[in-house]
Amino acid sequence: MEQIFEPYAEFAKDARIKNMDEYHALMNKANDDYEGFWGDYANEKIDWFSPYKQVLDESNAPFYKWFVGGTMNVAHQCVDRHLATRKNKAAIIFEGDNGDQQVITYRELSYEVNKTANLLKNQFNVKKGDRVVLYMPMIPEAAVAMLACARIGAIHSIVFGGFSAEALRDRIIDAEANLVITADGAYRKGKPYMLKPVVDKALEEGCECVKKVCIVERNGEDISWVAGRDYSYNELIKNESSKCEPEPMDSEDPLFLLYTSGSTGKPKGVQHSSAGYILWAQMTMEWVFDVRENDTYWCTADIGWITGHTYIVYGPLAMGATTVMFEGVPTFPDAGRCWSMVEEYQINQFYTAPTAIRLLHKMGENEPAKYDLSSLRVLGTVGEPIDPPAWKWYYEAIGNSKCAIVDTYWQTETGGHMISPLPGATPIKPGCATFPLPGIMAEIIDEDGTPTPIGEKGFMCITKPWPSMIRTIWNDPDRFVKSYFGDCKKDGEPVYFTGDGAMMSDDGYITITGRTDDVINVSGHRMGTAEVEAAIKKHPGVASVAVVGKPHEIKGEGIFAYVVLKGEDTMAEEMEMVQEINKIVLTEIGAIAKCDDIKFVPDLPKTRSGKIMRRILRSIAKGEPITQDTSTLEDPSIVQKIQTCII
Ligand code: WT7
Repeated sequence: MEQIFEPYAEFAKDARIKNMDEYHALMNKANDDYEGFWGDYANEKIDWFSPYKQVLDESNAPFYKWFVGGTMNVAHQCVDRHLATRKNKAAIIFEGDNGDQQVITYRELSYEVNKTANLLKNQFNVKKGDRVVLYMPMIPEAAVAMLACARIGAIHSIVFGGFSAEALRDRIIDAEANLVITADGAYRKGKPYMLKPVVDKALEEGCECVKKVCIVERNGEDISWVAGRDYSYNELIKNESSKCEPEPMDSEDPLFLLYTSGSTGKPKGVQHSSAGYILWAQMTMEWVFDVRENDTYWCTADIGWITGHTYIVYGPLAMGATTVMFEGVPTFPDAGRCWSMVEEYQINQFYTAPTAIRLLHKMGENEPAKYDLSSLRVLGTVGEPIDPPAWKWYYEAIGNSKCAIVDTYWQTETGGHMISPLPGATPIKPGCATFPLPGIMAEIIDEDGTPTPIGEKGFMCITKPWPSMIRTIWNDPDRFVKSYFGDCKKDGEPVYFTGDGAMMSDDGYITITGRTDDVINVSGHRMGTAEVEAAIKKHPGVASVAVVGKPHEIKGEGIFAYVVLKGEDTMAEEMEMVQEINKIVLTEIGAIAKCDDIKFVPDLPKTRSGKIMRRILRSIAKGEPITQDTSTLEDPSIVQKIQTCII
């Protein structure tokens, strides 16, 4: 029998959504009057400069528009509007890698955001609609820079600090950014690491669009300064005034781009809007984490990912919460770091990835017992399904069997949570994302929109537009339509397909079964196999390559590469090749794409038309018996040859 965990009664009493009846009432409201449902929330939650005229414009589907004609400003929503009631409340609590602490109140945040907005305008000539690339560590200045962009209507594009110079360059060029904001570096595991040299390298070629680089000083290490291009944030900011009127932004004006992996070698610049995005960021913060006025909330993500955007910066600040930002890693100085921070700051909601839970369980089974974790009420996970042993440890050792675990299913493209338990209402089944959030029309269907039978795998689709959805792929509207609206239809109309498979149980619970495309999930981050392949192909000795995911104890999935070499190589040369290939992956993408396995094979399993049969490669990597039909292969004997090579 499946175990079900009922919400903790004491918590449910005061929760925003208190039981399943309330959940169903909200769902019914959305079903009966979709636009009314969203329109009412937009009126209630957003501090409009001028009201919108239409809730949803579907005339140019799938380029949907929400809250058409309204004007507002996300920085005003996240900062200014709180000054009346929360001026001296902590907005951001920062803890550095080495334990240094900083508390930034809403008043101080306002001061910093205004000054930085003025700096962008006055010193760097950034205008509304310009793209600004942020390549930054986890320091408060990163959040300030995001909000400063939002304040003046510039579109930020954050590139995760673990990406290489090549990856950074591609993203700068695609977005045609004219300013890069970075830092000298920061600290990790007690030591300084560098970011600015990576920016220097990225800008060596092809980035003529970038006129200036703004550098925040964090670790004080030596960096080189290019005269006329590089400027110190810390110096210039001193001269700026702390008053900068927020730019009135149209609801649909882009707030940011965030590049993510797809099924080709080229990452996609996911474009998000202003009003719809911030509305759902705020609503999901309130519903899913149920943060109270005096709570302290901590999400361990990096601002370089969507989780960091929506659930470290925009969501918490939009609702006026206190959000913790952490520069370091959860295992330094030991695997008790997170729990010691939970005790120190009396964290009430803690949000992390299953991969981190598995790691902390493995490395520090007994660490949680050393700390007072009684402040915790809601625990969250994101990025991949959580496996039962990790769930159990999280629930018992961290949550003392009293906290709801919200397994939040969503994507870079959805802007915020789509399917998740509500901590005061949903009876939870471990490993299961449970039900769509109110207002989200998530359905498991086949290509034609027929609901998938109970217990079978189907396509996880969202069959109605929602406010925080991706608006387009930057510079590539055709790819947007093809990537998300090309596979599934309902009532003859294309609907949004997530790329994930899912399954429903007889009582309506949704379990996400994983990607149906060639995207793998490494430590909760999306990695395109085509991207890794494109990098490996750059090695002159490589004839062809196929990359697949293989289950990994900590990372969820690891990267497994099958490489066909051009010449006949000896064992010793192959060992050298492994190192060279990983070096290429490191320079082309970054450490997150490092291959766990690189195996040299005589050829790849191809059909007569030349298509690589990845399913077979996935099975071989797992060591599974091959049950697939291999008769369509050009050379069926290749399967056994590959199997012999990888042992
Ligand atoms: C992909 C999105 C959403 C922020 C982090 C990753 C997988 C995400 C869950 C979950 C099962 C999940 C999906 C999705 N995923 N959350 N709770 N259960 N799978 O964002 O890089 O855009 O990746 O992560 O496969 O499509 P992302």
